Amino acid sequence: MNPAVNVLILAAGKGTRMHSERPKVLHRLAGRPLLAHVLASARALAPRQIAVVYGYGGEAVPAAIPDPDVVWVRQAQQLGTGHAVASSLGVLSDAPVTLILYGDVPLIQPPTATMLAGLAAANRIALLTEQLSDPTGYGRIVRDEAGAISRIVEHKDATPDERAILEVNTGLMALPTARLADWVGRLTADNAQGEYYLTDIVALALADGVDIVSGRAQAAWETLGVNSPAQLAQLERIYQRRQAERLLEHGVALLDPDRLDVRGELTCGRDVTIDVGCVFEGEVALGDNTVVGAYSVVRNSRVGAGTRIEPFSHLDGASLGEGNRIGPFARLRPGAATGDAVHVGNFVEVKNSRVGQGSKINHLSYLGDADVGAGVNIGAGTITCNYDGARKHRTVIGDDAFIGSNTQLVAPVTVGAGATIGAGSTITRDAPAGELTLSRARQTTISGWKRPRKGP
Ligand code: UD1
Ligand code: CA
Repeated sequence: MNPAVNVLILAAGKGTRMHSERPKVLHRLAGRPLLAHVLASARALAPRQIAVVYGYGGEAVPAAIPDPDVVWVRQAQQLGTGHAVASSLGVLSDAPVTLILYGDVPLIQPPTATMLAGLAAANRIALLTEQLSDPTGYGRIVRDEAGAISRIVEHKDATPDERAILEVNTGLMALPTARLADWVGRLTADNAQGEYYLTDIVALALADGVDIVSGRAQAAWETLGVNSPAQLAQLERIYQRRQAERLLEHGVALLDPDRLDVRGELTCGRDVTIDVGCVFEGEVALGDNTVVGAYSVVRNSRVGAGTRIEPFSHLDGASLGEGNRIGPFARLRPGAATGDAVHVGNFVEVKNSRVGQGSKINHLSYLGDADVGAGVNIGAGTITCNYDGARKHRTVIGDDAFIGSNTQLVAPVTVGAGATIGAGSTITRDAPAGELTLSRARQTTISGWKRPRKGP
């Protein structure tokens, strides 16, 4: 733990320019709320305390972030960043330094946050600043002739000369906790926006003989804020590009690093190939020599070594053995678990079912709540009728069984090992091992039958 630091995250703002009812910090980047990203970076510092100021959207914000280590501070009215900090004074621990992060600046990385916190001291404030070619909208860092910071002026309050300054306040700063109450207590809302500006404490602190220093983020994108859907989309691309680069460095073959989305944790073995347009969500582990075909979506799944997922497949909560062939157009739902060398072909849906080694379900089938042994062949169009309208029932298919095409297996039902089911059967009772079972009307021919004709 770093007992010297509190992290205070300001997240009460509405985010008017998002044009959304949802509180801005709950908009998602890589599948997680913006605030969750900031919290992850905050946690990497192992601070004494993490406090979040929330307000717009009410309890929806804490409800979306169930993390028990967060201290929540309600700011009922959003009267400015200075007011947000004032709201937190009652709960902040007395750790010497308080690092202020923004809930809508989600890409801040732990090394930059650590550096900034380390720059502050009992008599020193550290600001994270950035040099921008277009500083419009940001607070400007005003320096004296010697280059020392004298104050921050908000864009709306700035003179034309001040607006020409390219060095901006990112908003992130680190301050001596013990003096916060005094400084924010002296803020006024006498400015263009009628808000209590946290940035005004820079001039107050300077007058108190406090040093004001600045630091820079390792990468400028860390300080980008989300104010609009376009900015959110831009940050998503930055985030995804970095994930892709990490995978490439690890040896993963990405056919196009710009066409990959990882919304969670993707772990890859050696010699993994991922074609374009794939989406990985939650926790996904791809074994050695796996191939994921184009436009597949894989969520919370494990894929065994050497398994190929052909294009347009959808996996959710699946656990696959080695050397499988899945898809194209396969759908594996939660609880789908395969042994090695299993084939699941096009338009096959598997849910809550185990499929044993070497079994094949190659075309147009639904397997739900089934236990399928090894070496089983399931013909095209086979369906487990697992639901009676009230409850789910299991289908058990023994090793080496052969299920003819277009069979309905009405569960609960068991097909014994080595059994054969004739095509087109509706199986309602157990089929014995090693025997042929079929249920279908005998074929007849009505000779001389005439098809009705139109006209006279
Ligand atoms: C702020 C800074 C500005 C800086 C810019 C960087 C001030 C006065 N200005 O301006 O110098 O260049 O960020 O993006 O600080 N918030 C609250 N409660 C409030 C108001 C804001 O929690 O009452 C939170 C917001 O949710 C947001 C952060 O504080 O996460 C910044 O607020 P925002 O309104 O975006 O500040 P800016 O006007 O952009
Ligand atoms: Ca902002």
